[in-house]
Amino acid sequence: MADLSTSYLGLKLENPVIAASSRLTYDVESIRKCEEAGAAAVVVKSLFEEQIDSDSRSMIEDLEYYSHTDAYDYFSNRSKDYYIDAYLETVERAKREVSIPVIASVNCRNDGSWIDYAKRFEAVGADALELNIFVVPADITKSSHEIEDIYFRILAKIKQRVTIPVALKIGSHFSGLANFLHRLDEAGADGLVLFNRFYRTDIDIDSLAFKPGKVLSVPEEAAVPLQWTAIMSGALSCDICANTGIYDGSMVIKQLLAGAACVQICSAILKKNLSVIGEMNAAVSEWMDAKGYRSVSDFQGSLSRAQTDQPEVWERSQYIKAICGIS
Ligand SMILES: Cc1cc2nc3c(=O)[nH]c(=O)nc-3n(C[C@H](O)[C@H](O)[C@H](O)COP(=O)(O)O)c2cc1C
Repeated sequence: MADLSTSYLGLKLENPVIAASSRLTYDVESIRKCEEAGAAAVVVKSLFEEQIDSDSRSMIEDLEYYSHTDAYDYFSNRSKDYYIDAYLETVERAKREVSIPVIASVNCRNDGSWIDYAKRFEAVGADALELNIFVVPADITKSSHEIEDIYFRILAKIKQRVTIPVALKIGSHFSGLANFLHRLDEAGADGLVLFNRFYRTDIDIDSLAFKPGKVLSVPEEAAVPLQWTAIMSGALSCDICANTGIYDGSMVIKQLLAGAACVQICSAILKKNLSVIGEMNAAVSEWMDAKGYRSVSDFQGSLSRAQTDQPEVWERSQYIKAICGIS
């Protein structure tokens, strides 16, 4: 029988399917269910930088004597600790109660004071830290370099503080994407999660009000991570974890062929249920048996830009009759 194990961030995974950060990984009970369903690892629901700050601020505003600077610092730190403690307790308990790797996650967009708490993720036993960074490039005065610098500052400060592996979960909105990913790799990222799917705002044309866009992905969205995994996997020393739009075993196989070490899934579980994890792994195993592959490394990256004899297919963005039969 095929061996589905793979390596991600230096961690041995029993198979390539990780439960992505979401309410499915919010508490220990949910994390345990992911493990029972066959997930190779979990990324715990993110701790949001904004939540830490607003929690801290609201507690401080309630304090009568907060103008006293010492008291301000004391209560500011205390309230932050209070919020983070709940998160760390979840990670610590999860580590005790499940045997799969537990990856802590922070959603951030600044290299602010939250970074000083990074060491605590390591202290409670998190196997790795995933930083979900998104700086909306909507400020017309900010250049690409200024925005990218924020990512590098966060990464550098976190790497100074922890020894556990650090993965960056990012979007695809960068002009020189290949160069940016390469520089993140050189700056010490142990893994890149390509790509996050961000909240989308929609408009209700009857009420002329805003409404939330679609929260869950659709399978067609997997084409973008597939392309960039294929373009970058042979050019990076860090691991790529493919994410967004992965709904079945055939897409897991495609991402591995493109060079991903593993995948993260969320919408597929929310739309179907946790059994989709087992179905994906069964499909990968069956396909490997049929192809005569004994381990993931036998085929991982074999259709990446670096290894295929048709590297141009991954770079073309216009229709190409010669290769795809579409003009
Ligand atoms: C309800 C919901 C909550 C999510 N919460 C988080 C989160 O806290 N942190 C994070 O990094 N990603 C979060 N995500 C994004 C998912 O982890 C995942 O990256 C995204 O949904 C794309 O993968 P998918 O196509 O398999 O859903 C959330 C997604 C959903 C639908």
